[in-house]
Amino acid sequence: MTKKVFLIGHPVGHSISPIFQQAAFDYHGMDVTYQAIDVDPHQLQRAVDDLRKEDILGANVTVPYKELIIPMLDSGSDDVAAIGAVNTVVNTEGQLVGNNTDAEGFLKSTLSSINIDPSGKSVLLLGAGGAARAVAVALAKRGSSSIFIANRDLDRAHRLVDTLRPIGNISGAIGLSSTKLEAIAYSSDIIVNCTSLGMSGGPQPDLSPIDKKFIPKGSTVIDLVYNPSVTPILRDAQEVGAQTLGGLTMLVYQGSISFKMWTGIDAPTDIMLEVARKALNPN
Ligand SMILES: NC(=O)c1ccc[n+]([C@@H]2O[C@H](COP(=O)([O-])OP(=O)(O)OC[C@H]3O[C@@H](n4cnc5c(N)ncnc54)[C@H](OP(=O)(O)O)[C@@H]3O)[C@@H](O)[C@H]2O)c1
Repeated sequence: MTKKVFLIGHPVGHSISPIFQQAAFDYHGMDVTYQAIDVDPHQLQRAVDDLRKEDILGANVTVPYKELIIPMLDSGSDDVAAIGAVNTVVNTEGQLVGNNTDAEGFLKSTLSSINIDPSGKSVLLLGAGGAARAVAVALAKRGSSSIFIANRDLDRAHRLVDTLRPIGNISGAIGLSSTKLEAIAYSSDIIVNCTSLGMSGGPQPDLSPIDKKFIPKGSTVIDLVYNPSVTPILRDAQEVGAQTLGGLTMLVYQGSISFKMWTGIDAPTDIMLEVARKALNPN
């Protein structure tokens, strides 16, 4: 019997997950299909119930259902409780377990791609949405020495700081246009863009969330945005001589962790990365 994995979201047409996940199943010669389904909001409960069927290994979950799906599942991991979002569902004999692989995917991408361990490092996070929550949890658990959250909506940044305080060394929240941003950026070892600024097809593809002048030469700048591969903040960081990492490796690593959850087998991460890169840059 062919087994199935789905990506559930709305919309899903832009996602490259089906391409690199299918490549992983094919690499291992597994009779599994990975398919994106665009689920209408009032069909979510039905789509989740369908995941309990015998031939379904599980699913990835994307915007806008990462939080909404939580009460529809039977249980969730510790990361789901901390981050407040699910990106992976595993079907175990009809029981649906929610997981979040974004935090671990972020850490694996920094450790293996640029050999950066955020433990003991000062970090400035730009953004306070869902992706920022996952990255902040990863950094707090890993033992970053300080974490500042800078966001356009300051209340949202404060709420994130409050929920993270019990986990690790969270230093505080500031507005993205605060005059304090320069000093905080200058004393940061790592700057992570978790906003959607710079994203191709997004509302502000040409903008960086931080002034180029604030990026320290010796820092590491990581962008969660993966399309384009060199975003405005990464271009600025390269120009001042900072080390950079785009979002594609995190996307693939979170997917490779999901793959292992569904199959129990190590994912062929290098192949997934290669296929994902080709999907974004066909020439
Ligand atoms: N590489 C990966 O594996 C991965 C994983 C997850 C997400 N991502 C990427 O990360 C980005 C954020 O995703 P998300 O799920 O966190 O989205 P989200 O929950 O909607 O949060 C969006 C964030 O961007 C900020 N923002 C949006 N427009 C802005 C503007 N014009 N000026 C300043 N700030 C602005 C928002 O600030 P406000 O709170 O002020 O609105 C918020 O902090 C997306 O580009 C997504 O593709 C990548």
